[in-house]
Amino acid sequence: MATKMATTALERPARWNLPMQLLHWSSAVILAAVVAYGWWMTEFPARSQRLFHYGLHGSVGVLLVALMCARLGWRLVSREPRVPPGTGGWERAAARWTHRALYVLVFAAGLSGIALSYTFRQPLDVTLLGLWSLPSFTFGDPGFWHEFLEELHEVVVAAMLWVCGAHVAAAACHHWVWRDSTMRRMLPH
Ligand code: HEM
Ligand code: HEM
Repeated sequence: MATKMATTALERPARWNLPMQLLHWSSAVILAAVVAYGWWMTEFPARSQRLFHYGLHGSVGVLLVALMCARLGWRLVSREPRVPPGTGGWERAAARWTHRALYVLVFAAGLSGIALSYTFRQPLDVTLLGLWSLPSFTFGDPGFWHEFLEELHEVVVAAMLWVCGAHVAAAACHHWVWRDSTMRRMLPH
């Protein structure tokens, strides 16, 4: 049994496969763009044009959610790379839970944004790559729900950014301080 487990561990690849790497880095870039655009657009001086920017921000957010769905699906059928030598049990658990939290929080950010988009008196134009539009309607008491979902979207995004910060700091420490192969798991040869 022990020999079989050792053999299986040895057979695992050294890095994440190329589609996983492409999905990881493209979603990281899109996430950074969605956050930066989100902050910028809420400060945009012309109120009349803000809805256009909100719609565009929402459209890129929906694209990110779709990409994260593809990524999650692909991850479930991908083989996890072998653990870098010297990695402790607590480190593996911390990484596993941070990665899970990142998926949950990015989805929560997207879904709270979509719900928020339904609370505007004038519907936002949110599309997936301009090919498919989200159904447009408003629900409940727009005043209450607007305030509530705006707050929720902000809090979820802030929580996601904190976890992202911890994830990036851990990746940097692995690479530059502990000098192990963790970063290379997400980089091509
Ligand atoms: C998927 C990841 C998403 C991220 C990381 C994100 C991030 C942000 C950020 C940083 C802001 C600026 C203000 C704040 O912190 O609340 C914001 C505002 C906003 N987001 Fe998102 N967003 C995402 C998805 C979406 C989606 C899918 C929609 C709509 C379909 C959406 C609709 C909005 C709207 C309407 C606002 C303006 C809120 C206000 O009136 O202040 N977001 N978002
Ligand atoms: C400069 C920014 C980033 C760096 C340097 C970085 C680095 C890494 C590295 C080295 C791994 C492999 C770790 C392992 O296999 O245990 C990884 C995996 C992962 N990263 Fe990042 N990352 C960054 C941004 C992000 C962002 C913005 C997200 C949020 C969506 C994210 C989510 C994940 C997840 C969920 C995994 C686990 C594998 C997967 O399911 O894709 N990363 N990251």
